[in-house]
Amino acid sequence: MTKSLEQEVLSRRTFAIISHPDAGKTTLTEQLLLFGGAIRSAGTVKGKKTGKFATSDWMEIEKQRGISVTSSVMQFDYDGFRVNILDTPGHQDFSEDTYRTLMAVDSAVMIIDSAKGIEPQTLKLFKVCRMRGIPIFTFINKLDRQGREPLELLEELEEVLGIESYPMNWPIGMGKEFLGVYDRHYNRIEYFKNQEDKMSTYVQLNQDGEIEGDHEIKQSSLYDQALEEILLLNEAGNSFSEEKVKNGELTPVFFGSALTNFGVQTFLETYLQFAPPPQPRKTADSVVEPTQEAFSGFIFKIQANMNPAHRDRIAFVRICSGQFDRGMSVTLARTGKQMKLSQSTQFLADDRSTVNEAVSGDIIGLYDTGTYQIGDTIVSGKNRFEYEKLPQFTPEIFVKVSAKNVMKQKSFYKGIDQLVQEGAIQYYKTLRTEDIILGAVGQLQFEVFEHRMKNEYNADVIMENIGTKIARWIENEEEVKETMSSSRSLLVKDRYGRLVFLFENEFSTRWFQDKNPTIRLYSLM
Ligand code: G4P
Repeated sequence: MTKSLEQEVLSRRTFAIISHPDAGKTTLTEQLLLFGGAIRSAGTVKGKKTGKFATSDWMEIEKQRGISVTSSVMQFDYDGFRVNILDTPGHQDFSEDTYRTLMAVDSAVMIIDSAKGIEPQTLKLFKVCRMRGIPIFTFINKLDRQGREPLELLEELEEVLGIESYPMNWPIGMGKEFLGVYDRHYNRIEYFKNQEDKMSTYVQLNQDGEIEGDHEIKQSSLYDQALEEILLLNEAGNSFSEEKVKNGELTPVFFGSALTNFGVQTFLETYLQFAPPPQPRKTADSVVEPTQEAFSGFIFKIQANMNPAHRDRIAFVRICSGQFDRGMSVTLARTGKQMKLSQSTQFLADDRSTVNEAVSGDIIGLYDTGTYQIGDTIVSGKNRFEYEKLPQFTPEIFVKVSAKNVMKQKSFYKGIDQLVQEGAIQYYKTLRTEDIILGAVGQLQFEVFEHRMKNEYNADVIMENIGTKIARWIENEEEVKETMSSSRSLLVKDRYGRLVFLFENEFSTRWFQDKNPTIRLYSLM
C-alpha cells in the first residue's frame, strides 16, 4: 500500500550535525547510516578509512563532472522513519553555506567531545539553531576515553550555551573503566561489558531505579557513584519537558561512544521519538503547511563547481510542501520564470524511485547554470509566493579586492555582482575611495570567489587581506558622521547601501561606543 503524502511527510526527520572538527561527526554519521542501511548518500562520509559509503552514483557524478558533492546530504530509513542528514562542513570548509544549511533542517544534533567540552565552532552553529528555535539533541562522545567530569560538562553546556539540559542517560565510569550508562529515559542500564565486541546488553531497572537482584556491575563502586549522581540530578536537575525540547529550550543529553558504537542506537531511537517532522514554513505573508499538495521549496545552498571544465553548479532545495516529481513544472518565484525540472535540472541521486518520493523535509539537488540564487523559492501550480528571506550572517574576515587587469573591469564587476547576489560572498564599499571589500565567515569563501572569478568571468583579482574585523550595523544612521571612520573603525556601505563599521577588535568597538554613546550598533546573525 502506498503511503499518503501526509504519512510520508510525518515520517521525515531532517537534521544537521553540529560539532567542532574531530568531535566525531563522521564516526557518528557512519554508525547512523549503518543502522539504517543508507539508501541515498551523497558520496562518502568524508571519504576516509573504510570507504564504505563511497559506492553510490554520486561519486560517479563527482568524477564525471568534477563536482564535489561529498556528503552534502545523506538519507536512510529506520523503523518507519526516513532520515535526512545534512552535512555542515568543518573548519576548513566553513562558510555561510554552513550556516544556511541550518535553515533547511527541523532539528540539530550537537556532538561534544567529552574531553574538550564546548568548542568555538560548536558555539557558532549552536547560536544559529537557537535563533531558529529548533530542537537540539546533544551527544557527548568518546566516553571510552578519559574525559571531563560529566557534571562539569553539563554545567559548561548550560552556562556557555545558555540552554537547559536534561541527561537522558548518565555514564557509569569512563575511559578504561567505562561500564555503560544509566538510562534514565528507558529506566535501564546499558551495559558495556566488552569494548572489543561492541555489543551492549540491557538490564531493566525496578521502580526505584535500581537493579533487582544480583548483577556483576553492582560490585563496582562506579555503579554506586552513578546512582548517587542520578539522585542529585533527580533532585537538583531540570525535569524533562517535551514542550521545551520542541521549542529548543532544553536539550536532551546522551553520553556515548560513536567509535565503539555504544549508545548510538538508543540515541537514534530516542531522537526519532522526540525530533519533529517537517514544520510549517513562513512566507512573506502566510504559512505553508508541509502536507499541502502543491510542491514548494527554497534553495539554501549553491555548490560551485571547482572544475574549470564545467561551469554548472548544484542548487540544493529543501522541499517545504508537496511532492517532487521528475520533470515537473515549477515557477521561480523571484522572476516568474517557468521551468521544467528535467534534463537541464537533473536530480542528483542514485535511485530513481527514491527521488520520485521526495516530499517535504527531503533535499533535492538541481543542476544549475546560473538560474538560481540562494534563498530562491520554487513553486508548482499557479500560486506564486516566496519563503522568508534567509538571514545574512555577520562576516568575520575581510579582503580588499580589485581587478588585476584594468582592461577587464567589466567582467570583474559582472562577476562580483553575480557572486554577491548568489550569496557566495558579502560586498562592502568604502565611502570616499570606493574600494571594494569582501566579507566572509570562512576562508574558503574567498578561495571559491577567486577561483570562480577567474574561471567563470575571466577576471583575475588582487586580494589584499585586511584580517578579521567586527562588523556592526547602525540603527540610527542619521547620527553617523564620516569623521567617525578611521583605520580602527572603518566606515563602509553594504550591498544594500546600509552603513557598517568594521572595527579592528573588541577593544576598538568598546572604545568607539564609549566615545559615541548615541550611536546604536547591532550585528546580524
Ligand atoms: P569529525 O568528523 O567530527 O571531524 O570527527 P571524526 O568522526 O573524524 O573523528 C575524529 C577522531 O576521533 C577519529 O580518529 C575518530 O576515530 C575518533 N573518534 C570518534 N568517535 C570516537 C569515540 O567514541 N571514541 C574514541 N576513542 N575516538 C573517537 P582518527 O581520525 O583515527 O584520528 P586519531 O584519533 O587516530 O588521531
